Amino acid sequence: MTRVFSGIQPTGHLTLGNYLGAMRRWAEVDQHRADSLFCVVDLHALTVEHDPARVRRLSRQTATLLLAAGLDPDVCTVFLQSHVDEHSRLSYLLECVATDGEMRRMIQYKEKAAKERERGGSVRLSLLTYPVLMAADILAYGADEVPVGEDQAQHVELTRDLAVRFNQRYGHTFVVPRTTLPQVAARVMNLQDPTRKMGKSEDSGAGVVYLLDEPDTVRKKVMRAVTDSGREVAYDREGRPGVANLLDVLAACTGGNPESLADVYDSYGSLKKDTAEAVVEVLRPLQARHRELCADPAYVEGVLRDGAEKARALARPMVDTAYRAIGLLPPVPEPALSAAR
Ligand code: TYM
Repeated sequence: MTRVFSGIQPTGHLTLGNYLGAMRRWAEVDQHRADSLFCVVDLHALTVEHDPARVRRLSRQTATLLLAAGLDPDVCTVFLQSHVDEHSRLSYLLECVATDGEMRRMIQYKEKAAKERERGGSVRLSLLTYPVLMAADILAYGADEVPVGEDQAQHVELTRDLAVRFNQRYGHTFVVPRTTLPQVAARVMNLQDPTRKMGKSEDSGAGVVYLLDEPDTVRKKVMRAVTDSGREVAYDREGRPGVANLLDVLAACTGGNPESLADVYDSYGSLKKDTAEAVVEVLRPLQARHRELCADPAYVEGVLRDGAEKARALARPMVDTAYRAIGLLPPVPEPALSAAR
């Protein structure tokens, strides 16, 4: 059976981008057709300046939202990265295979490091090595597929390179995974600046629809979306990124096609209105389920505990195999090894 792995960082409130680019597919498609693991990657949240209490709060909230979005612990595994030591164990081995040059070429590293420097802060070493930990997340489970939004494709490419390199040097150990992207909304853009991705760590939330935004807030944000000076509704991501973004979001929410939807509208106003309502409708059941789950934190904790146990059982043998392959002795001598001495 195909194995799927994906992750999400608890670095901010989850956004419509996270949902349309990744979570929705995990819930609607991946968990039903594959052996799937979905991870709240809390260690990744420590790569930039953070408040420990906020990370704890957002880790719980992110896990709760994954369940609210429809991940079903009876058919998939949901867990916190820091509950499974194998991620960090494997990350170190992969650091011994990755190069400094390839880390510095990562677009997200360049962007986040520049932002951190602009703020007058220093760049943590873990921000540079972060894609290696992400590779470890994936390779520890022998995942075949990694369903992500477009912004993570470069990191999955790196994961493939590291897996191939490790296998060539030390013998076949890892499955070489592939990226799967959604057909529409692989990159939802910021409503106030449609040349930038809608991200959860923005300084201003005006262009970002959060999954827990009230319906009226969603409507306001979408109605105020920056479009362009033209009038005609056309799907042109380069020339008219604002309108194209709205068409992508509408298409993703209604199951349509952005190009054909463009023909249906003759004004930006009506496109915005329908997009806002479509988003409100997509978020409604998720928010209702989220309220129910918040009333039962013990349930969420139980899911995470069981999930970590299942994940550990899968990752442990894989990471042990990698330790042996790279030249590390097992802690307890195996009978065959002591006999050979
Ligand atoms: P993160 O937490 O930034 O995002 C989680 C998922 O949401 C997708 N996404 C988007 N898709 C479309 N439009 C957007 N505006 C948008 N914003 C976010 C992301 O592509 C991602 O699929 N490094 C990863 C987390 C990670 C991971 C992994 C993912 C760590 N280990 C292993 C897959 C496998 C990240 O920062 O995602």
